[in-house]
Amino acid sequence: MKTSSGSLLAALSWASAVYSKTIQYCPSNANGLCYQIGVPSSSASSGSGNIYFQISAPTSYQWVALGTGSGMVGANIFLMYQDGLGNVTLSPRHASSYSTPSVDTSSTGPRLTLLGGSGVSSDGKTMVANIRCANCESWTGGGSISLTSSAGWIGAWKAGSSLATTGANAQISQHDDTTTFSLDMSQAAVNSDSNPFLQSSTSTSGGGSSGSGDDDTGSGSNSGNGVTVSDTGRSGGGAIAFHGIVLTLVFVILYPLGSLLMPLRGSWVLHGVWQGISFILMLVGFGIGLHEADERDELFKQSHTILGTVVVCLLLIQPVLGYLHHRHFVAHQRRGAVSYVHIWYGRVLMVMGVVAGGLGIELSGGKTPIIVAYSVVSAVVFVAYFIGKLWKTLSRKNRHSISSDKDGINMQTPVGRRSQEPPIGSSFQEPNRQREGRYV
Ligand SMILES: *[C@@H]1O[C@H](CO)[C@@H](O)[C@H](O)[C@H]1NC(C)=O
Repeated sequence: MKTSSGSLLAALSWASAVYSKTIQYCPSNANGLCYQIGVPSSSASSGSGNIYFQISAPTSYQWVALGTGSGMVGANIFLMYQDGLGNVTLSPRHASSYSTPSVDTSSTGPRLTLLGGSGVSSDGKTMVANIRCANCESWTGGGSISLTSSAGWIGAWKAGSSLATTGANAQISQHDDTTTFSLDMSQAAVNSDSNPFLQSSTSTSGGGSSGSGDDDTGSGSNSGNGVTVSDTGRSGGGAIAFHGIVLTLVFVILYPLGSLLMPLRGSWVLHGVWQGISFILMLVGFGIGLHEADERDELFKQSHTILGTVVVCLLLIQPVLGYLHHRHFVAHQRRGAVSYVHIWYGRVLMVMGVVAGGLGIELSGGKTPIIVAYSVVSAVVFVAYFIGKLWKTLSRKNRHSISSDKDGINMQTPVGRRSQEPPIGSSFQEPNRQREGRYV
C-alpha cells in the first residue's frame, strides 16, 4: 500500500502522462509499422485546429498510408513514401472508389506539413513522417472526425522498393493489406500545439496488438490505450469477389437465360425452377454484399449499394407476379395485364441489375480487363436475348403466314392464343415444338 503522498504523486504523474500522451497504434498485420496521433488541447477544445500524426515504418515498405474515415471510400488519406533524398514525401489523397486514390488538390484537401524528426534513419532502415495537419477535422466529400471522442481511422501499406520521388502524385499500386480502427481522441490529447514527436517522452504503451490477428472479421478488439481495432485487413476481399461473381452470374447469365427458356422451351416449370434457383443465388450474393457494405460503413452511401438494394427489393415480388401470371393464364387461357407486368418488370429490373453490377465494378476499382469482360458479356447476352425473342416472333409470323397453324389460332394476338398452361402441380415439359413459345 502506498502512502497518501505517494498515491497523490502517482495520480499526478498519471494525470500529466495521460494529458500529454499521443496514441500509438501498430497494426498486428503489418511489420514494424506504427501510427501515432496527437491532438493539442487547443484544437480539442475548439473542435478544429492542428492535429499531429506520425507514420513510421521500415523502408521495406514502398508506401504507407493513414486515413481519417471508417472506410477507404470517402476517406481523407495521407500517403508517405521515400523521396529518394533521405527524406519522405507526403501526398494527401482522396478516394472516391476502391481504385487508386487521387491527389486531393481541392481547397478542402488536407494541408499537411512535414515536421522535424521526419526522414529516413541513418542506417536507412526506417522512415518517419511527423506531420501537422491544419484542417483534418473535416475534408473533401463531407467527412469529419471528432477531436474529443471516438474517431474512425484507416491504414494501408505496400511492401516494395522506394518510389524515390518528391512528387505528390506518384503512381502507387494496390495495398498489400489494410487496417480499420477507431481512436478515443480524448486520450490523444497533448498539451501544446507543437510537434509532439520530438520529445522522446512521447513513448506510449504499444496500442498495437489486435487480438487474435484474425484476417477476416473484426476480431481484434484492443481497447487499451484508446485504440479499438475493428478490422485487421484482408477482410472481405474474397467475399466481395464472391458477391460480384454470384450476382454477375445471376443478372448477366441466369436471369436472361431463364427468361428466354419460356419462349424457347415453353415450359413454365423449367422457367420457374430456373428463376427460383437464380433468385436464391441473388439473395445469397446480396446478403454477402449487405454484410460487407455494413462492415465498411458504406451501406446506402454509393450509387452501387443503393441501386443494388432497390433492384433486389423490387425483385422480391417478381415470383409472386409470376405466380399470378400463371394463375391468370390457366384461368383465362391467355395473358392478362399481370402477365405483361411480370414480363416487363423482370426485363427492366434485369437491366437495372446489370447497371448496378457495373457500378459495383467501378466502386471496387475493377481493372480494365474486368470492366471489358463484364461489358462484352452483358452486351452479348443482351443481343442474344433480343435475337432469341425476335427469332421467336418471326417464326410465329412465318407459321402464321404459311397457314401452318392448324389450330386456327391467330399467333399475332395474344387474345387468340390457346393455353399451353398445364394445371398447377403437373410437371409439364413441352415436347411439341409446334406449341412452344405461345406462353410468352
Ligand atoms: C525532412 O524534412 C523536414 C521538413 O522539411 C525536415 O524538418 C527534416 O529535418 C528533414 N529530415 C531530414 C533527415 O533531412
